[in-house]
Amino acid sequence: MIYCGNPKRQYLAYKKEIDSAISRVLNSGVYILGEEVEKFEAAFAEYIGVKYAIGVGSGTEALHIALSACGVKEKDEVITVSNTAVATVAAISLCAAKPVFADIEAKYFTIDSKTIEKKISKRTKAIIPVHIYGHPADMAKIKHIAEKHDLKVVEDCAQAHGAMINDKKVGSLGDAGCFSFYPTKNLGALGDGGMITTKDGGLARKIRLLREYGWERRFISECRGWNSRLDPIQAAVLRVKLKYLDEDNKRRQRIASIYSSGLSGCGLILPEKRHDCAHVFHLYVIRTPKRDDLAEYLKKKGVFAAVHYPLPIHMQKPYAEGNFSGLIETEKAAKEILSLPIYPELAIKDVKGIINLIKDYSRRNK
Ligand SMILES: Cc1ncc(COP(=O)(O)O)c(C=O)c1O
Repeated sequence: MIYCGNPKRQYLAYKKEIDSAISRVLNSGVYILGEEVEKFEAAFAEYIGVKYAIGVGSGTEALHIALSACGVKEKDEVITVSNTAVATVAAISLCAAKPVFADIEAKYFTIDSKTIEKKISKRTKAIIPVHIYGHPADMAKIKHIAEKHDLKVVEDCAQAHGAMINDKKVGSLGDAGCFSFYPTKNLGALGDGGMITTKDGGLARKIRLLREYGWERRFISECRGWNSRLDPIQAAVLRVKLKYLDEDNKRRQRIASIYSSGLSGCGLILPEKRHDCAHVFHLYVIRTPKRDDLAEYLKKKGVFAAVHYPLPIHMQKPYAEGNFSGLIETEKAAKEILSLPIYPELAIKDVKGIINLIKDYSRRNK
């Protein structure tokens, strides 16, 4: 079976370097924060083009901490999208704030800035644009709205390590950028991990306090924080993999372009990108009204195409309270989207095999 991602193959690709990095941490005797985490934070900050990067326990925690550091609290509202990983919305709920959903752009699946202003109220504190599937949200328009209404912008970069708008990386464009290192992400750990990036020294200090009980000095709390630290073993692994991230993203882009040329004329809607963006194809998402049928056909042939995501968050029981009008493109996309396998180690012959299967399917279902 070919799946959408395959983190074991990536581990095997860099096994020697990863094993030696893990062994270095085990022999150091430092198993919480320390030099390994600091070195990876410095390397990641440089890669993204910001002054500060703070390692945390997961992408969900990155969002939770970043929102809290931005002052989001009980009864505040945060605007985001409903076609996202539940984690984006869970982080808002963890702040006891209320998620408010804007619609998405049909072409790029990112937040439709035209629908944001209608959702702003006196309680709105922040916007979370999600760079979904590896495609950057329209940050210029989002930042313009945020400045006009004095809102914070917390980027959800969990699926977009290395994605760019012109020459700027996502994670360097809002007040804070939040990354996940879930194993299948473009930069994936061998377990959980996350990172917050920012250019703002004051915000970086608050983030550092929140991730460890509000401590500036050990045992003395300056504020009410909790525990969400990046594991040094994961930091060491991630520092190895960061060296290969651009190469891996190029490989994803190559696979995406092979899919796009092979699948043109099959009657599917293929992914597009905004002219000023570098898309890093965390996922290659096509659209077809025959989605379920095509997915079933591919499964029978040994290809597991997943749906990211089958049910928009505002339609899920724990988050279904409120007025969710106007999410037309979000609800339509959920019925049509299908993610084809894409990861740097996926063999080109397998990509071509998947293209041929889909071509056969569309010939028979014309
Ligand atoms: C868009 C998005 N936001 C947030 C997260 C949360 O990351 P994590 O799984 O590391 O908590 C994920 C990953 O699952 C994601 O895809």
